[in-house]
Amino acid sequence: MISKHYFIYTFGCAMNEYDTERIAASLEAKGYIPSDNVEDSDFIVLNTCSVREKPQAKILSYLGQIKILKEKRPDMIVGVSGCVAQQEGDKFLKNNKVVNFVMGTDAVSHIDNVIDRALNGERFADTQVDSNDFSISSFQRKEKIAANVTIMKGCNNFCSYCIVPYVRGREVSRTPEEILNEIKSLIDKGVKEVCLLGQNVNSYGRNLSTNVDFPDLLSMVNKLEGLERIRFVTSHPKDFSDKMIYAMAENEKVCRYLHLPLQSGSDKILKVMNRKYTYADYVEKINKAREVMPDIEFSSDFIIGFPNETDEDFNDTLKAVKEIGYDRIFAFNYSKRPGTKAYNMEDNVPANIKSERLNTLFALQDSLYDEKLPALQGVQTDVLITDINDDKEFPYYGLNMYNRKVAFSSDKNLQCGDTAKVLIKNAKRNCMYGVEV
Ligand code: SAH
Ligand code: SF4
Ligand code: F3S
Repeated sequence: MISKHYFIYTFGCAMNEYDTERIAASLEAKGYIPSDNVEDSDFIVLNTCSVREKPQAKILSYLGQIKILKEKRPDMIVGVSGCVAQQEGDKFLKNNKVVNFVMGTDAVSHIDNVIDRALNGERFADTQVDSNDFSISSFQRKEKIAANVTIMKGCNNFCSYCIVPYVRGREVSRTPEEILNEIKSLIDKGVKEVCLLGQNVNSYGRNLSTNVDFPDLLSMVNKLEGLERIRFVTSHPKDFSDKMIYAMAENEKVCRYLHLPLQSGSDKILKVMNRKYTYADYVEKINKAREVMPDIEFSSDFIIGFPNETDEDFNDTLKAVKEIGYDRIFAFNYSKRPGTKAYNMEDNVPANIKSERLNTLFALQDSLYDEKLPALQGVQTDVLITDINDDKEFPYYGLNMYNRKVAFSSDKNLQCGDTAKVLIKNAKRNCMYGVEV
C-alpha cells in the first residue's frame, strides 16, 4: 500500500494548536503520515483564525495555492476548520470549489466521523454547536516537554471588538477529572510543563456541578507528581481575583508570569470595548499581585486605533505601559469584525495613524525593556530544556519561570526535559544567553 500523507496549517491561538493535535491524531489513527510539505500531501487541513481581517484574508491566498496543486492531483482532500470555518460555514464551501469540507470549532469533538465523511467523497459543512458539555476524549499526542491542555471553550464576555464569542460559542468547562487524567497521561509520556488554555481561564468551572474554580484547579494540577511547571492563558482582568493571586503564589509549579490583557489605557475606550474594568482597577490587581509575588512578570495585549481613539487616549496607553513595566506586549491594529458590536461604529482612525501609534508603542516597550536588560545579567535562573540544536555556542534552549527565552552552554550532556541552573551572561531583547553552573 502506498502511504498517504497529511499536512495541517495552523493559524491563530493555542486553542487552534491544540485542535490541530486532535485532528492530526485522528488522521494518524487512520494511517496517514505527517508531511513537511503540502505538495506531496493527500489530506490538507487549514485550521483558521478570524480574530482580525488579515489572518482571515491569508486563508484565501493559501487556498489559491492549494487549488493549483489540486489541479494536478484531483484526489487531494482539502478541509477548512477553526474559526473562519465556524463563521462562514456553508457559504465558504459554496464559494471555494477547492474545499471538500468545512468543519466548525465543535466538529473537532467528532473528528473521526468528519474525516470518514470526507474520505467517502462527501462535500459538506459541519458547523453544529454543542453547547452544554465539553468533553475531550483522550488522543494520541506527539512526544513533547511542554504541552497545551484546553480546560474550557468559548467566551461569555462579548468585548465589543471581538469575534471569539461568535465563533467559539458560550463558555463551557471540562471536568477537573478529565483535565487531570489528560495531564497525568502527558506526564507518563515525559511532559514536564503544561499550559492550561481558555479564553478566560478565571471563569473556569462556572458551568460545572462541582465547586471547583480556577485557583482550585491550579492547586489540583500542582499536586501531580512528575509535573514541573504550570502556565495558563488567558486571564481577563475583571475576573482576576485575590484567590487567584494566592493560588499563583502558593503553588510552586505555577510560573511567575501573568498575561493580563489591558487592551487600552484609556477608561473611555475600555468602556466602549465593554471590558468592565477601569485602568485604576487593573493597576490595583497588578499591585496586589506584586505585593504577594515581588518577582512576578506581566505581559499584555493592546488594540490600537479602536473607533474614536484620540491622541489623548493613545497617550493613556503609553502611560500605562510605562507605569506597569511589562516584560512583553502584544499589540494589534484594530480590525473591524462582522457581527460584533463595534462593527456598527465607524472605523475612523486612519490606517496610517494606527500604524504610527503601533510603532510608537513598540518603540516605547523596546526602550523600557532595554533598560531592564542589565539587571537580568549576572543572575541565575532555572531553565527547562525544550530544545537542543546544533548551535556550537549555545546548544541548549528553554524558558525560565518568567517565560523568558534562554539559550545556554554546558559541559554536561543534558537532555530535553532536564532543568538546568543557568548564569545569564548576556541578556538581549529576544533571548538571554548564559552558561550552566
Ligand atoms: N481571550 C483573550 C484574547 C483573545 S483574542 C482575552 O480576552 O484577552 C487575542 C487578542 O486579539 C486580544 O487580546 C486582542 O488584543 C486582539 N483582538 C481581538 N479582536 C481584535 C480586533 N477586532 N482587532 C484587533 N485586535 C483584536
Ligand atoms: Fe474576546 Fe473579550 Fe472573550 Fe477575550 S474576553 S475572547 S477579547 S470577547
Ligand atoms: Fe483566532 Fe479563533 Fe483563537 S478567532 S485567536 S483561532 S479562538
